[in-house]
Amino acid sequence: MKTGIGIANGKLILIGEHSVVYGMPAIAIPFKEVRAITTVSASDSMTVNCIYHNGFLSDAPKQLENLQAVVSATMERLGESEQSLRIEIDSTIPVERGMGSSAAVANSVVKAIYAYYDQVPDDETLFELTQISEAIAHGNPSGLDARVTVSDRPLYYIRGKTMEAFDIHLKGYIVVGDTGENGQTMLAVNALGERRKMDPAVIDGLIHELGELSERSKSILAGEDLEPLGVCMDLAQDALSRMGISNGALDHLIEAARIGGALGAKLTGGGWGGCMLALTKSLGEARQMEKILMQNNAKQTWVLAL
Ligand code: PMV
Repeated sequence: MKTGIGIANGKLILIGEHSVVYGMPAIAIPFKEVRAITTVSASDSMTVNCIYHNGFLSDAPKQLENLQAVVSATMERLGESEQSLRIEIDSTIPVERGMGSSAAVANSVVKAIYAYYDQVPDDETLFELTQISEAIAHGNPSGLDARVTVSDRPLYYIRGKTMEAFDIHLKGYIVVGDTGENGQTMLAVNALGERRKMDPAVIDGLIHELGELSERSKSILAGEDLEPLGVCMDLAQDALSRMGISNGALDHLIEAARIGGALGAKLTGGGWGGCMLALTKSLGEARQMEKILMQNNAKQTWVLAL
């Protein structure tokens, strides 16, 4: 039977979430430990099988509105809008935890549909189609998730301006801790927008502070000294906290990581739940950090070598 398969990685925002929405630089890293795999095959009707729904795509619940949009835009782009397919999505990326699940799923769906029709989308097409899904999932997406899910390398990104893939020379380990609470990217992005309207001087100050920390981190990643990256991560967490983006579960894991010897710790992604990052020097320390986070109610952990 003819099938098309599409695979996409998760991502981690190392620094610059939220401020990236307002034109400041951010750094994101593809996270290959988790990924979305979509398989497309022939069918009499357009159906989807994933954790949220198994049946007609048109009957899918509201969470899949972005999927419906990306499927129809992709079919239209391919000139196949009259066709029907069976779309099976299998993903190890935890949903709503700041790991870019929605962008990766959309990306894998687009690639799988293209593959089914023996085609390969170019990066710009893939970005544009993924971004259709992101706009529905997030409201005002910076494009960072959609860009990094297309990329195989770390990305330095400024909305609408710069998209630079680069290699990290610095050696170190990032431990990812999942609070087990769903992040709420769209709500957090909207709430920050409202706070900015009410208190532009303070919020714009924090946005700029985060932008400078991303710049500094970019040069630190090209060097050999790990400690300053930890300092930037701590300062970024402080700014995000003052913006109102952190929450109790994130603060608890971040505090535990710092007490446990992390060089720095911060939330990652949209916030108000989701995941945090802790920086360590060696793999041994990273494994120890995973234990500390699990003892402090993390739902799961991962380690990423820089
Ligand atoms: O929660 P995630 O993985 O979708 O990351 C959101 C990142 C933000 O900067 C908060 C929003 C955006 O569009 O860049």
